[in-house]
Amino acid sequence: MDAVAQMLAHRSIRSYRPDPVPEKLLEEILNAATRASTSGNMQTYSIIVTRDAARRRALHAMHYEQEMILEAPLLLTFVADWRRMSRWCRLSEAEPGYDNFLSFLVAFADALIAAQNAALAAETRGLGICYMGTTICATEKLIEFFELPTGVFPATTLVLGYPDEEPELRDRLPLASIVHEERFVDLDDAGIRETYRERETEGWKRYQDFPELAERMRESGVRNLAQVYTTLKYTKEGNEAISAEILAMLKRQGFLG
Ligand SMILES: Cc1cc2nc3c(=O)[nH]c(=O)nc-3n(C[C@H](O)[C@H](O)[C@H](O)COP(=O)(O)O)c2cc1C
Repeated sequence: MDAVAQMLAHRSIRSYRPDPVPEKLLEEILNAATRASTSGNMQTYSIIVTRDAARRRALHAMHYEQEMILEAPLLLTFVADWRRMSRWCRLSEAEPGYDNFLSFLVAFADALIAAQNAALAAETRGLGICYMGTTICATEKLIEFFELPTGVFPATTLVLGYPDEEPELRDRLPLASIVHEERFVDLDDAGIRETYRERETEGWKRYQDFPELAERMRESGVRNLAQVYTTLKYTKEGNEAISAEILAMLKRQGFLG
């Protein structure tokens, strides 16, 4: 498959065979990750490989017990990393000015871009991947677990392995609601309704297929998909609590002055 066909065929994989990923293949994927565009060619990120079963069990707990972490043979944790660059600067009598929020954003973006290169390389070679958004919800635990020093911060995690499922392609919002010509166009209410029309029915149906979620939906009395998002999946209270932890950890890791 060419690169675009591969992107168009992407689906996240959540069920894996236990077969290990050959070392040569992993090296190729890691090389592809580091060929990604990177701000100032500074490569302000690092990639932590986890294979060890006991350590994967520990990560499983930190990542809200997502089963695929136990099944897949490999996890790649991408971290924003100014430490390596800052130490090089100091060794060269150059004073680094990277203990600030801008630098954090630069490194975080670098880490995500490298992760997406790794994801595409892995998929091109027949592996499955799934991102773990829980990485930024467990920053304190991950910082301790990986012994991340000042200047280093968790960005994202990829689960990698041979797929044990062939899920359907997931829907996307209509291109016209995503792409704007020259200026941002704020849709009117009818446009917003139209944008989410298919998802409202398909997404609702899909969530009903997950027994645990369907039960929670019944118990909480949610009436539509948007309410699933705001009251069950991504709540204001949850988001605020995690935001507070991230801010505290950014301070501890030296990115907020
Ligand atoms: C930053 C990020 C974090 C994600 N975190 C999770 C996660 O924690 N668990 C999960 O099952 N899927 C996770 N996903 C996968 C998304 O749910 C998935 O990409 C989306 O539902 C679209 O499905 P598709 O990738 O199969 O097209 C994440 C994706 C991204 C980009």
